[in-house]
Amino acid sequence: MTPAPSLSAPHVPVLLDEVIDALAPAPGETHVDGTFGAGGYTKAILDKGAARVFAFDRDPDAIRYGEALAATCGGRLTLVPERFSRMRQALADRDVEAVDGVTLDIGVSSMQLDQSERGFSFQGDGPLDMRMGKDGQSAADFVNSADEVEIADVLFHYGEEPKSRRVARAIVAARPISRTGELADIVRKALGHHAGMKKDPATRTFQALRIHINDELSELEGGLAAAEQLLNEGGRLAVVTFHSLEDRIVKRFLKSRSGALPSGSRHLPAASTDGVPAPTFEAVAKPVRAGEAELKANPRARSATLRAARRTTAPAWAGKAEGAFA
Ligand SMILES: C[S@@+](CC[C@H](N)C(=O)[O-])C[C@H]1O[C@@H](n2cnc3c(N)ncnc32)[C@H](O)[C@@H]1O
Repeated sequence: MTPAPSLSAPHVPVLLDEVIDALAPAPGETHVDGTFGAGGYTKAILDKGAARVFAFDRDPDAIRYGEALAATCGGRLTLVPERFSRMRQALADRDVEAVDGVTLDIGVSSMQLDQSERGFSFQGDGPLDMRMGKDGQSAADFVNSADEVEIADVLFHYGEEPKSRRVARAIVAARPISRTGELADIVRKALGHHAGMKKDPATRTFQALRIHINDELSELEGGLAAAEQLLNEGGRLAVVTFHSLEDRIVKRFLKSRSGALPSGSRHLPAASTDGVPAPTFEAVAKPVRAGEAELKANPRARSATLRAARRTTAPAWAGKAEGAFA
C-alpha cells in the first residue's frame, strides 16, 4: 500500500466553530463533509456525536491520509474518493438517500499548497500540475496547448486578471512551460513586479488556472444542487468559500432557493402554472467572516466567508443536480 502523504504543515480548519454551530450535528444524524482535506470538520462533526459521516475528497492523498482517522471511528466515518458534485450518486451506491447536514469548504488544502510537486503554488518551484484529483488535463497541458484567446478568457473569468490578454500573449510566446516558477516569472515580467508589492502579480493567474483545471465553479454548483436534493427537512448546509467568484455562486443559489431573488434568475426553473416553486432553504444566519483572534492565528482565514441555510419541506427544484448524475 502507498503510504499516506507526509504533512509539512497540517491544514488548520477555517471558521471551525462557526461551521459546527451552523451544522449543529446531533447524535444519530448522518452528515456529508464534501471536502475532507485534513479532516478538521469531519472530526468535529464526529465529536458532536453524529452517527455517520461520509467524507468526500477528489484528492487520493487526502483519502489515504484520512484512513488513520477512519480506523479509529468504528465504522462511523466512510471516506469517499469522489468529487462532491457526484455525492448523490455515490451515497445512493451506499444505500443512503438522505442526510441531515452537508458541508463544503471550497478550494485547496494547506497540504496541497505546501507540496510543491502538486504544482498549486509559486512559493516553491514544482511541476505545473494543479490537478486535485491527479487525473485529466494538467495546468502545463493547458498552457502549452490552448490558444491565446482561450488562455486570456480563463485568466479574465477565473482570475479576474485585468491584463489577461497581455499575460496570455507572454505565456504563448514562452512555451513550452513546465514549472510553476517559470510561469510565475513569465507573468511577473509581463505585468511588472517589484519587491514590496502587496500581492504577487502571478496570484491571479495561478488562481485562474487552478479553477479551470479542476472545473471548480461547476463543481460548486453541482455540490449545492446535490445538497438540496439530499438534505432532509431541517437539514443544514454550510459552505465556506475563499473568493468572490465562489461566494457569488453560493449567495445567488441561497437567495434564489430561499425565494429572495426575482424570477428570471438563472437559478430559477421556468415559471410553472403554479408560479415560482416554494423555497427549499431558509437562511440560518448572515454570512460569517473570521474574527480577530482567528485572523491572527490563521491568515488563510482572511478571505473566508461562511454561508449557512436550513432545508425546508419543499421538493428540490429541478436543475444542476441532474448533471451530477451524468
Ligand atoms: C480547503 S480543503 C478542506 C479542509 C477541511 N475542511 C479540513 O478541515 O481539513 C479542500 C479540500 O477539498 C478537496 N476538494 C476540492 N474540490 C473538491 C471537489 N469538487 N470534490 C471533492 N473534493 C474536493 C480538495 O482536494 C481539498 O482536500
